[in-house]
Amino acid sequence: MTPRNTDMSGRDFCFFLTVALVAFIHCTPNAHGLKWIALTKENRHTVWANASACKSSQLLVSPQKSLCKRNLDVMPAVVESTTVTFDTCQDQFQDRRWNCSSIKSAPNFTPDLDKGTREAAFVQALSAASLAQTLAIECSSGMLSQCGCGRLPLEDGGKAPSNEAREAFRWGGCSDDVDYGLEFTTRFANGPLLTTRNRDNPKSKMNLHNNIAGLKLVESTVKKRCKCHGVSGSCNLKTCWQALPNISVIGMALKRKYSGATEVSFRRTVVRRELVPKDPRLKDYTQYDLIYLTPSPDYCRQNFRAGSYGTRGRTCNRTSPRPEGCDLMCCGRGFKTFVSEVTEQCRCKYNWCCYVTCDECRHIVEKDVCL
Ligand SMILES: *[C@@H]1O[C@H](CO)[C@@H](O)[C@H](O)[C@H]1NC(C)=O
Ligand SMILES: *[C@@H]1O[C@H](CO)[C@@H](O)[C@H](O)[C@H]1NC(C)=O
Ligand SMILES: *[C@@H]1O[C@H](CO)[C@@H](O)[C@H](O)[C@H]1NC(C)=O
Ligand SMILES: *[C@@H]1O[C@H](CO)[C@@H](O)[C@H](O)[C@H]1NC(C)=O
Repeated sequence: MTPRNTDMSGRDFCFFLTVALVAFIHCTPNAHGLKWIALTKENRHTVWANASACKSSQLLVSPQKSLCKRNLDVMPAVVESTTVTFDTCQDQFQDRRWNCSSIKSAPNFTPDLDKGTREAAFVQALSAASLAQTLAIECSSGMLSQCGCGRLPLEDGGKAPSNEAREAFRWGGCSDDVDYGLEFTTRFANGPLLTTRNRDNPKSKMNLHNNIAGLKLVESTVKKRCKCHGVSGSCNLKTCWQALPNISVIGMALKRKYSGATEVSFRRTVVRRELVPKDPRLKDYTQYDLIYLTPSPDYCRQNFRAGSYGTRGRTCNRTSPRPEGCDLMCCGRGFKTFVSEVTEQCRCKYNWCCYVTCDECRHIVEKDVCL
């Protein structure tokens, strides 16, 4: 090989590197702004003691880093909310072909969560809802320095709370601070999607919409709770406050939105860039609906490029007609039944004094598994 040739290949290599770098930068806009939901894994033990933790975090992007610096004491709650998102998503989808197990690969999302699918819409909305809910509840529990008890509920008939109600409330109850939860989440979760680089990207628009839908849902689940005080429950004095439901209630409501989500496409006109229902006969979606850009695979067979793990080996229930039933779960491929004998302790008796004796019981357990 002559030196001249080596020279050429070196230049070729540089050219290749440049092209690869440019392609890399162009192909990976942070259109979902959802890297932060991986905080649960890498930053669980991070001490949010000073701004350097925010600055060095690989999972926070620009407007989030400065929010983090100004709200260090809120960061543990942000991390906590991502655990809530993981658990709730897997819990809601455990009986489905797509069971949310891929959320664990965050921040390197697999195609099922990276291509603007219905599943991505759900995770996006849930992450915003979990953050708002977690913050609102931590506020009213007195865990955060920047917020506390939220607004008082309206009195029956929609009137503003009376002075007596305010007085009773002061010692009796504390509303979840929903306003704070929604406001912080709007800045934290929507911020990255509103930067000039992301603003007009169809996926950013989709994710922004779904974040807002998640927050609207949280707002709509606030309920007035009351407690009676006074002699033998006479309810002479009643304290009322606003409370958010358990996250599984919110997760369930979002799963219904997921089922009814609207497929949209990006329409670029001179005046606007917007997402419109793909099927023009459908009525427009509202702020409360989830939207998605890309239809999902049926998740029956393994196809990693489509983000499908397939359902081979998944547990199913042969008598159920629902999604966890073998018919739907195994996509018609059939199932195999494993029979095993389990030994358990049973008929336990407490003996004076102080030990417990049990018998050993054996029983047969059957487990259906998709082929
Ligand atoms: C920030 O906190 C870390 C961990 O507690 C510590 O090691 C570091 O010295 C602190 N940096 C500043 C600038 O205070
Ligand atoms: C929500 O409520 C259900 C049942 O009411 C309970 O099993 C679950 O632990 C609760 N979840 C949380 C996060 O509190
Ligand atoms: C979820 O699906 C994956 C892929 O099919 C499977 O490996 C995993 O065991 C499932 N998890 C649960 C809890 O069923
Ligand atoms: C299977 O489904 C049937 C019908 O829906 C239900 O009664 C049964 O409890 C389920 N079995 C298991 C193990 O979940």
